[in-house]
Parts: sequence; structure tokens; C-alpha cells
Amino acid sequence: MSGAGNPLDLRAWLDVARKLGELRDVSGADWNLELGAISELNVKKDAAPALLFDDIKDYPNGYRVLTCSTASPARLSSLLRLGEIKTHAALVHKLRGLPKAWQAAAPKFEPVITEKGPVFENIQSSDAVDMNTFPAPLWHEKDGGRYIGTGCMVVTRDLDSDWVNVGTYRVQMHDRNTVGLDMIPGKHGAQQYDKHMKAGKPFPVAIVCGADPLGYLISGIEVPYGMCEYNYIGAILGEPVQVVRGEVTGLPFPSGAELVLEGWAHPGDERIEGPFGEFHGYYPGKAATAPAVKIERVYFRHNPIIVGSPPAKPPNDYSYSKAVMRSALLLDALAAAGVPDVANVWAHEIGGARMFNVVAIKQRYAGHARQAGHILSQCGVGAYMSRYSVVVDEDIDPSNLQEVMWAVATRTDPEIDIDIIKRGMGSKNDPMSIAYRYDAPLTSKAVIDACRPYDFLKSFPEVAEASKELQDQVRAKWKELF
Ligand SMILES: Cc1cc2nc3c(=O)[nH]c(=O)nc-3n(C[C@H](O)[C@H](O)[C@H](O)COP(=O)(O)O)c2cc1C
Repeated sequence: MSGAGNPLDLRAWLDVARKLGELRDVSGADWNLELGAISELNVKKDAAPALLFDDIKDYPNGYRVLTCSTASPARLSSLLRLGEIKTHAALVHKLRGLPKAWQAAAPKFEPVITEKGPVFENIQSSDAVDMNTFPAPLWHEKDGGRYIGTGCMVVTRDLDSDWVNVGTYRVQMHDRNTVGLDMIPGKHGAQQYDKHMKAGKPFPVAIVCGADPLGYLISGIEVPYGMCEYNYIGAILGEPVQVVRGEVTGLPFPSGAELVLEGWAHPGDERIEGPFGEFHGYYPGKAATAPAVKIERVYFRHNPIIVGSPPAKPPNDYSYSKAVMRSALLLDALAAAGVPDVANVWAHEIGGARMFNVVAIKQRYAGHARQAGHILSQCGVGAYMSRYSVVVDEDIDPSNLQEVMWAVATRTDPEIDIDIIKRGMGSKNDPMSIAYRYDAPLTSKAVIDACRPYDFLKSFPEVAEASKELQDQVRAKWKELF
């Protein structure tokens, strides 16, 4: 790509995914629950491919939906431009230190603005705006409506500075030209929105409903306050993102985007939004009011592709990418806190990459295991909503739940190996908060030391299984069996 920048073209990446054997076409699914259920069953399979839905019921216009785009090591590593990496552990190690380096390099990658781009191939204006033109799925039976934005990038601007923020916030279709935007209080988009409402000014919004999935991957992680996610994405790409400006708000969006909705959230216009599932697999709250955005322009490519990434009981569409990204950040945090000999970390998908995290260490000294467990539970990137933090020896693969729970079952004395931290960081979004007695979002946390007791390391019973060398020899000789 030239100095003209990268248009975040989804189709270029789909070609890569297809060559990797990571993409499957699905024809004829119904947008009404069937597409969502197929995607949900797919993501629970071993080696689940990305799915490109075409010929969607009621949409003979060739408009499409992509799901499961980030849910494998090969797809995620190709999206992050790290080459093809085939295992979780290798990907987590490859990512070590990179988020910090990307963040440091981001200011050098200001997006470049251009006049034209495929996103302008079709435009709906004013009264012609009709989101029913697009096959937004009803993802799950208990959802409050159709969600056109899940794997999306929501572009907004600050009131009193030039700061453009890009966040992944779910987008519900209310009617042909209105959507609901769910931004949790404190998120950067919500802060910008609050400022506009207090000043009585309309809030500009551009919603990118499909682009290279690197876009929503990065707008879905915590990039620092005041930094634009386009810069961060540019640092990953090694070149700036190429953007065009919306006709109505002037907000920038990728010139190669598939489908963009542009408009304003007006003061006082909030409507019931949701319910919609959450990353941990529950509908934790009732439907509540959220900003309504009046859409004045819709820009889209011929045969546009909506990128879907719905939450659900994990593993779900984006739990794998969250697990990888958070595991890499936890690994860096443990090293920064001075914990030596960490073999690997895994923030399990079953805990939404927050609530059940495991670190494997080579025990070096008395107290090493507790130190690793408490820091895993309490470090900056780990503290919010952490519930169980487990420490295992380096012979255990922290991403393998069978092995982890075998260590918990066989290497712990519950009376002394489970430390309870009281009144730690929780969330109102926690399904358990309903039963908690606290008035603030607090929770207790457990650190489980499932390492062999340090004082009995030498005499601890031997593991009854073939040695690694013997396993390797047998695997090599009996390839057809394994
Ligand atoms: C697929 C996906 C969906 C998400 N949905 C929401 C949402 O509906 N509301 C929300 O506040 N955060 C949601 N998040 C989390 C935010 O995107 C994340 O916290 C991000 O850092 C927000 O951007 P900001 O830091 O610029 O506010 C979602 C993340 C992903 C990956």
C-alpha cells in the first residue's frame, strides 16, 4: 500500500482469509434468528471458520453479513499483520510488548484524508434513508430488536477539541432512520456525548457497520483517553488509515468501509434500547434508555457486508480475540510488576476473558506462586471484574481447562490454597451483582494456588503419564493415529 494510506478494505482481508482456508460461504439463511443461531453454533466448534452469509432471506439484493472474523489464531494474527500464527500460546508471546509499542508509535500515524472511496458507491440521503435495505440480524430470541452494529466502529467527536474517538458500541435499529447507541457510562464516546448534552448541542455520530475487522478489534479495546483509534490502527498497519469525511457531520471514516450510517443524537432524544446479551453470556440488566441517533446519510459499497460480532454465552464471536489480547496485556503486566519465570497466561473465554484467568510459572522461590496470583488478580488490566485467578506450574497449559482443573483438583489444599480478597473491583454488569449486599460495584475475588507446594517440590508425587520425549516419538511414528 502506498503513502495514500490504508482504506481498511474488508474484501482485501477476506481474500487473505479464504487463501488461509479460514472462510466459509453460507447461502440462504434467514436474518431472523437463523443467521445468529448458525453463527453461535459455529463459534463453539473446534477450528470454527469465519462465515460469509449471502442470499439472506428477504434480501435478494446480494447484501451480506460476516461473522466469526476474529475467532482463530490464524485469522487474528493475519488481522494484526503478524503473519500466520497457528497456536494461542505463540500468538500471546508474539504480542508481548506490542500494545505498548503500538501506542507509543500511534501519534506518527495521523489518518490521511481523501475525497473519494468505494464507500461512496451508493448514498441514501434524508427521506430516502432506510436501514431496512440491509440484512441486520435479529441475533437471539430475547434481544430487544435487530442490531445492525455489533462488529462496528462508532466514530464521534469531542465538543471542545478536535479529538475523534472510535469505539465499538452496539447499535440497535429502532426504525428506518433511527438507531439506539449503547455506550456504558465512562466510555470515551459516552463522555463526549455527555458534554454535548450538557451544552444542549447535537452529538455527531458515524457508525461503520463493516470494514477490515482490525478496525472493530481496536475500537473494542481501551485506547487511551484523547487518542484516536485510527492512529493506533495505523501503528499496527505501519501506514496511516485512509479516511473520507461524512457530508453531514464531517466525521472521518475509512474510505473502503462497507456501510456507514451518519447522523446526530439530539438533546432529549433517548429511547428504550435492548435488552442484548453481554460478553459474559447473560442479559444482566433490563432494557433502559439510550441515545437515539437520527440517520441523515447512509453510504455503502455495492453488495455491502455487515460485520457481525454478537455477544452470547462464551465462547462467542469475540471472546477469542479478547482472550488473546488480554492474555498478552496480563503477561506484560506481570513482567512489569517483577514476577519472574512466567511461562504463559490465559484469560479464559468462559470468563469473558475477565473472570477466570490462569498463569503458569516455573516456581523459583517460596511465595512466588501467591505473588503471581495476587498480581494477576489485581494489576491494572486484570482487576476489573476478575473473580478467579489460578496459578499453575509450568507443566500445565494455562489455556487447557482440563489440565488447569486437574491441577486445582490434585495440587491444592482448599483450606490454605485459596486466598479471598474482599471488596475488590466488580461491576454492575456482573450477573452476580443481583445477589451482592454491596451498594457499590464491589465483589470478592479468589486466588487459587494450584502449584505443587513449594516446600514439598522435591518429594511431590510424580505425574503418571508418558514423558514428553516418548509422546513426541510416538506421535512422529504413529502419525495416522494422532
Ligand atoms: C464486539 C464488541 C461489542 C462491544 N459492545 C459494547 C457496547 O455495546 N457498549 C459499550 O460501552 N462497550 C462495548 N464494547 C466494549 C468497548 O468497545 C470497549 O470498552 C472500548 O474500549 C470502548 O471504546 P472507548 O475506550 O473509546 O470508549 C464492545 C466491545 C466489542 C469488542
